[in-house]
Formats: sequence, structure tokens, C-alpha cells
Amino acid sequence: MIIKSINLTNFRNHKTYHLVCNNDTTLILGENGCGKTSVLEAIYILTRGKSFRATDPDILKRGEDFYRIEIEYKSGEKITATYDQKNKTFTTLDKKSRRLPKKNRYPVVLFLPSDLNLVSGSPSRHREYFDRIFSDFNEEYSVVLSRYEKALKQRNELLKNENISFASLFSWNLLLAKYGTKLYNLRKEFTTEINKDFNGVYHSIAENDDFVELSYNTEAKDITEAKYLKILEENFKRDLMVEHTTFGVHRDDFIFMFNNCEANGSASRGETRSIILALKFIEAAIIYKKSNKKPIVLLDDVFSELDEARRKCLVRNFKDHQVIITSVEKI
Ligand SMILES: Nc1ncnc2c1ncn2[C@@H]1O[C@H](COP(=O)(O)OP(=O)(O)OP(=O)(O)O)[C@@H](O)[C@H]1O
Ligand SMILES: [Mg+2]
Repeated sequence: MIIKSINLTNFRNHKTYHLVCNNDTTLILGENGCGKTSVLEAIYILTRGKSFRATDPDILKRGEDFYRIEIEYKSGEKITATYDQKNKTFTTLDKKSRRLPKKNRYPVVLFLPSDLNLVSGSPSRHREYFDRIFSDFNEEYSVVLSRYEKALKQRNELLKNENISFASLFSWNLLLAKYGTKLYNLRKEFTTEINKDFNGVYHSIAENDDFVELSYNTEAKDITEAKYLKILEENFKRDLMVEHTTFGVHRDDFIFMFNNCEANGSASRGETRSIILALKFIEAAIIYKKSNKKPIVLLDDVFSELDEARRKCLVRNFKDHQVIITSVEKI
């Protein structure tokens, strides 16, 4: 799918905004704060279903009571999202719905300046990043993740009550064991899939033979549902004391390795940038392999962060994709 145009009304700082896109590369040029990232955010909402950085009340232009965003694809298909402070509604030719319909979802590879700091980020930042891209690899992932998170929240709520009995946690333990084991298996599978090409792609960018790898660190290694359940039950007293669940995949981390050491602390700034670039290329390739759709590539102000060689590499790699780029200066 190729985006033909975008219309925004009362979206962030935009009262009204219209952008016509090219089939290959579209450059959104403008000074800081003029609303460039907001345009990418609107595209993301209409392709993935929700913003990558905020909720609707933050997005609605201050002082206004509704926002509307509309995308028209080259195929003629149109989709609109409206938010009126109460509800968000997605409208296509044939129906209205609260969520972006599956058939209107389209894969996107998003590259934000903050992604360049991913290597040094915290475990929760790593999980947040990989949860988002794994959800793009497989619809099931986001369903399992949200069920796991709901069960975890409920169990943690109960643990705050000192009179809670061992038995009353049973149903939540069962759910955590079920979805936790699924998440472990999916995370392991997707990490392995990334690693298949990580080195090769990295070498094509960095032109040397350093060894890069994504390491999936988890306490739940080789877990089964039965083992998971047993550990949760064994931890009951400890969890009650600290008032939260101390074992599980919500504590996982994804660590970038560079020549068998943690990249954070051993890879140089340039090497770190090449690692992230390689990751983005692999993301796009895996999404294409799984969905047979070429993801739209949204590059938010990343050119200014890259040197000439890496810029060329980025352009070369995404030459068959529709690419929308924001920048403060001409590139
Ligand atoms: N709900 C809102 N209502 C009105 N203005 C908003 C709202 N949310 C954000 N803004 C403002 O909208 C402007 C556009 O933000 P955006 O992040 O899109 O800018 P940008 O062009 O990407 O800037 P930069 O080059 O600094 O990244 C900012 O000035 C921001 O403060
Ligand atoms: Mg911006």
C-alpha cells in the first residue's frame, strides 16, 4: 500500500494540515516544533492503530474538542480516525469501529532519534521496544502480552492486601503461567530470527567482521507452564512481603552483544549506530517475509544523527519502500 495523502485537523499543533506523498520518498522539512513528528504519529495511528508516544487527550490540539486524521492510499482506499474527547472512531467506506480494523492495518518501520540510544537503555525500555516490534511480527504476540499484563496487574493488586490467601491467587497464577510461557517462547523465537541475519546485515553496514548478537535474558529459560506455576506458588510468601510478583517474563531483558561483550560499554558510538541500523533493516525484512507487505518506513529526524556512509546505506536499503522522512535541514 502506498500513501497518497494525509489530512489532519486539530492534531497536536496543526489546525489543518495536508500532505501529498510521493511513491518513493517524501521529505517533511521544517523547524523545531513545527509539527513534523506529529505527522508521522498520525500516519502511525492510521496504520498501526495507536500512537507511538502518547494518548488521545495529549494529541488533541489544546482548546479544541475533536481531532480528525485521514489517509488516502493510492488504491483509492480511505481511512479516517476521529477523537471527540470521549471516543475514538475509525471510519472506512463500509464501517465504523473503535479499533483500527485488521484489514486496514499496514506494517510500518519507525525510526526515532531515541532508538539510537536503545543499546544503552534500561530493561524496561528494551522490553517496550521489542514488544512493539514483535507485535508487528505477529498479531498473536500483542494479544498474549496484553493478557499477561492484565493478569500481572490483578495479581499485584491482590498482593497488596496482607490478608490474601494462597488459594485466591490460583486463577491469576494459572493465567500468568499460560501467557508467560507463551511470551517466553515467542520472544525466544523472534530473537533467534533476528540473530539469523544480524551479523550479515551489520557487516554490510560496518564493513568489518565484529560479531553482533541480540541476547534474550530471562529467568524463565526453558520454562514450561507447569514449572512456571510451581515457581509462582513457591514465591507466594516472598511476593506477599514485597507486594508484587517477583518471578516472570515482565522482568526479561534484551541485551545487544558486541564481540561477546555487552555492546553498552564496549561498542563505539558509530558501531552502536550501525547496530541499530542493522536492526531496522532486519525488522523490515522480517515483516516483509511474514506479511508479504513492504512496510512503510517513517524516519523521524535520524539523518542528522548519521554520517554520510550510513545515510547512503539507509537510502539504499529502503529503496523499494515508501519512505517518509522528517528533517530540520535539507538533506
Ligand atoms: N495537544 C497539543 N496541542 C497543541 N500543541 C501541541 C500539542 N501537543 C504538542 N504540541 C506542540 O506541537 C508542536 C509540534 O510537535 P512535534 O513533536 O510534531 O514537532 P517537530 O516538528 O517534530 O519538532 P522537532 O523538530 O523539535 O522534533 C510542538 O511545539 C508541541 O509543543
Ligand atoms: Mg520531531
